[in-house]
Amino acid sequence: MQFSSQTAQVGEVGEICRAMADEVEALIKGKAAGGEKVVLGLATGSTPLPFYHELIRRHREEGLSFQNVVSFNLDEYEGLGRDHERSYWAEMWQNLFDHVDIDPGNVSVPPSIFEDAEAAAAGYEAAIREAGGIDWQLLGIGGEGHIGFNEKGSGEESRTRRITLARKTIEDAAPAFGGEENVPTHAITMGVATILEARRIVLMARGASKREIVLRAMSGEVGPEVPASFLQNHGNVGWFLDNDAAGS
Ligand code: F6R
Repeated sequence: MQFSSQTAQVGEVGEICRAMADEVEALIKGKAAGGEKVVLGLATGSTPLPFYHELIRRHREEGLSFQNVVSFNLDEYEGLGRDHERSYWAEMWQNLFDHVDIDPGNVSVPPSIFEDAEAAAAGYEAAIREAGGIDWQLLGIGGEGHIGFNEKGSGEESRTRRITLARKTIEDAAPAFGGEENVPTHAITMGVATILEARRIVLMARGASKREIVLRAMSGEVGPEVPASFLQNHGNVGWFLDNDAAGS
């Protein structure tokens, strides 16, 4: 499959993770050679775990260093402190940062506890801008087509903000929280416009349950009904799909 400015890579999970890690490794090494930092936008959830394993493996076995990496996560549940095991802050440390040599001062996850949501969101946007913008943004996709926590109805101009989680998002998260009643009802998320400013976007999807929504996002009507469809308007997107998500 080849799109104007979009490519799709389909294969076994291991294969697509290696291809994604190749991109990140080249970026890290290229920037390091010039004494520059690389800014990664990262996602949580189950989808990227094997990709993070591959990055950790390259760090441990091949000496890939993350010392020049600056990272910004897409989203965070409102109200969960950093020590809450379901917070995305904690997830990122468990699944990636604790296992590589990233400088803890270079890691950002949207604030989860704030008095003024607008100020907190604006501060996050400003930090991304000050870092020079995102070079490489990783995304998963929700069952109804959200990217970050940009739920159905999120517009192309949306920026980082507080958002009410969709019913489906809460249902999907319920097992991890031991019941729907324990899932936060709100989150703070980078906006669609914030995401689309990244210079390279990689959307990863695994499993047959994502097949239909991936197809709608890649080739369906572009609009807030499926926020991931706005990626069709970006000039440099890679869709990395396992065989089940691609339906091949
Ligand atoms: C997570 C995020 C979400 C997930 C999406 C898919 O930071 O931004 O958009 O990528 O909900 O979740 P999984 O990978 O668990 O299927």
